[in-house]
Amino acid sequence: MEDIKEAEIGKILKVAGPLVIAEKMSGAFMQELVKVGWDKSVGEIIKLDKDTAAIQCYEDTSGLTIGDPILRTKAALSVELGPGILTTIYDGIQRPLEVIYNGIKARNPAEAPYVPKGVEVPCLDRSKHWEYNPAKGVKIGDHVTGGQIYGIVHENSMFKEHRMMVPPHAKGTIVEMAPYGNYNIETPILTLEYEGIQTKYNMFQKWPVRKPRPCADKLAGNKPLLTGQRVLDALYPSVLGGTCCIPGAFGCGKTCISQALSKYSNSDGIIYVGCGERGNEMAEVLAEFPDLKIEVDGKLVGVMERTCLVANTSNMPVAAREASIYTGITLAEYFRDMGYNMSMMADSTSRWAEALREISGRLAEMPAEQGYPAYMPSRLAEFYERAGRVVCLGSPHREGSVSIVGAVSPPGGDFTDPVTTSTLNIVQVFWGLDKALAQRKHFPSVDWTRSYSKYKDQLASYFDDAFDGFNSRKEKFFYILQEEGVLNETVRLVGKDSLSEDQKIVLAIAQYIKDEFLQQNAFSDHDYTCPLWKTNGMMRIIAHMYDCCQKAVAESDKDSKMTLDIIKTALSEEFHEMTQMKFKIPKEALRESTLEYFDNLCNQIDTKFRNLKAKM
Ligand SMILES: Nc1ncnc2c1ncn2[C@@H]1O[C@H](COP(=O)(O)OP(=O)(O)OP(=O)(O)O)[C@@H](O)[C@H]1O
Ligand SMILES: [Mg+2]
Repeated sequence: MEDIKEAEIGKILKVAGPLVIAEKMSGAFMQELVKVGWDKSVGEIIKLDKDTAAIQCYEDTSGLTIGDPILRTKAALSVELGPGILTTIYDGIQRPLEVIYNGIKARNPAEAPYVPKGVEVPCLDRSKHWEYNPAKGVKIGDHVTGGQIYGIVHENSMFKEHRMMVPPHAKGTIVEMAPYGNYNIETPILTLEYEGIQTKYNMFQKWPVRKPRPCADKLAGNKPLLTGQRVLDALYPSVLGGTCCIPGAFGCGKTCISQALSKYSNSDGIIYVGCGERGNEMAEVLAEFPDLKIEVDGKLVGVMERTCLVANTSNMPVAAREASIYTGITLAEYFRDMGYNMSMMADSTSRWAEALREISGRLAEMPAEQGYPAYMPSRLAEFYERAGRVVCLGSPHREGSVSIVGAVSPPGGDFTDPVTTSTLNIVQVFWGLDKALAQRKHFPSVDWTRSYSKYKDQLASYFDDAFDGFNSRKEKFFYILQEEGVLNETVRLVGKDSLSEDQKIVLAIAQYIKDEFLQQNAFSDHDYTCPLWKTNGMMRIIAHMYDCCQKAVAESDKDSKMTLDIIKTALSEEFHEMTQMKFKIPKEALRESTLEYFDNLCNQIDTKFRNLKAKM
C-alpha cells in the first residue's frame, strides 16, 4: 500500500463481528467499497459520522486488529455485466467460485476448498473470446442513446443472443464499430462521440448493485409465469414480472419449489440466489443443475445455460447476504434490459433480514419488532420493487421482465413474524406452505385456503384464450375446496350420514383434487413438471366428473334415487382413471396423444352416465 496517498487510508478503531468501525475516513461516501485490513477484505461503508465510518465486511473479520489500514476505492459495490454470467457460480459479491477454486488448487491443493480473504479475481473471464456480430441496421454516424442494441454475442446454445447495449446513461454518435469477429470482453467494439469527446465501449459494463437499472416505462404484467407446478399455475398464478413469496416452516418445501421453478419455469433466464441457507442445499443445486436438461423447441439443452447461481450459504459472512440479493437482482435487470423475461429466486429473504438485524444490533440502532431494524420493511420493498414488466431503454423497441420469487422462513412457521408480514404487504402472490400438509407428505404443501394471487383478473383472458373454459374450471375447483372445508366441519359435528348426496359428491371430488391434482412429486419422472396443457386436461376431467355426478343426482326422481355409491360402482373404471392421469409423461412429443387420452376419457364418462341414466 506504499504507493497510495496517506489521505486515502483509514485505520481500524473497533471490530465487532461483521462490523468494522474505522477512523480517519473523512471524505469517504456512503456505500463506498473499501478494502479492510492487510488482507484487503471487501467491505462497504454503511454509516458515516464525522471522520469515523461503520463498515460492513463481506468477508471474515477474524484477525483484524486496531490500527489495520482501510483502503478507499472511491466506487460503490458494482457488478460486471457482460457475456459469461450465465452458467457461472458466483459468491455474494460476484466472485466466480470455480475460478477461485482452480486458482488456489493450482497453487496449493491443501487449501483448495477455502476461499482466502481478499482474493481478487475478475468477475468475468477476460481471456475467453466470444463470437460477436454487429446488429443489423446500426451504422457509423447513427446517434444512439442508452439501451441501444448495437451487437449480438452468441452466449451458448440455449441463450443464443446476448445483446450488447449502450450503457444506460451513455449517448453520442457512433464513430467506430467493430466488424464481425471473435473478441474478448475487454476489446473495444464501439466508440461514441459526444460533444467532441470519444468514449470506447467493450463487451461489459459495470453497474452499482444498489441502484435499479433504469427503464423507459413500467407495464402491468399480462402473461403468466408458468411454473410447472399444477397448484400454482392453475390456482395461484403469477405474471412474468410479478412478485411472489413462499413462506413456510422448516422442511415444508420452499427450496424444492424454488428449484423446480428455476428448472422448468417459462423464463428466458434464471438467477438463483442461495442466501444464508444451509450449504447442503446449495451443494445439491451445484451437483444437480449442471446435469439437468430441459426441452426447448424439441431439443434437450442444459438448464445451466440459462442460469446463474449466486451462492451465499449460512457459514459465509452474514453481511454478504445482502450483497448477494442485490447482486442477483442487478444481474436479472441486465438481462431484462436486453428484452428477456428473467426470474430471480431468493432462498431465503429471512436470512437477509437476519443479517440486517445483526448489523443493526451492532450499530446500536433502535430496534423495532423482534429486534429487526425499523428500515427492514422498506429494504424489502425496495428489493421487490425492482421486479416488473418494463419497456426497455433504447431501440429497437422491446419489453422485458424480472419476476422475483422470495422464500421466507419464519421461525416455527409463524406467519405473523415481521419478515413474513412485511413481505406480504409488498408482494402480489402468496404461496403459503402448510406444515400439516408437509407432515402428511402432501407436496407441494401449498395451503389452498390461505394462498392468493392478485394477478387473477390480469391473467383471466390469457388462460381462457389458451384453453377454453380454464377459468370456470378453476372457479369450480375453488368452490369445491372451499365447500369441502365447511362440510368437513359438519361431518366432525354430526357425522357423515347427515350429508346429502350432492354434498357427498363435493367431498369425494375434493379428495381427488387434493390427492391427484394438487399433489405433485417433484422427484418423479411423470410429475417433475406439468405443462399447462396437461394441467388443463386433468382439471377438465375432474370438473367434468363433478358436473356429471351433480347432474345425475339432481335429475334423479324420488323412487329411483341416484346416489354417489351407485355412480362410483358404475364408473369405477373412470374414477380409477382419475388417479392415473398424472402419470402421463409431460413431454412435448406426447402432447397430442395425451390430449387425445383426455378427450376419450371425457367421452367415456359421458357414455357411462348416459347408460346409467337409461338403466334407472
Ligand atoms: N414437491 C415435492 N415433491 C416431493 N417431495 C418434496 C416436495 N417438496 C418438498 N419435498 C420434500 O420435503 C423435503 C424438504 O423440502 P425443502 O428442503 O424444500 O424444504 P425447505 O422449506 O426449503 O426447508 P428449510 O426451511 O429447512 O430450508 C425435501 O427434501 C423433500 O423430501
Ligand atoms: Mg430450504
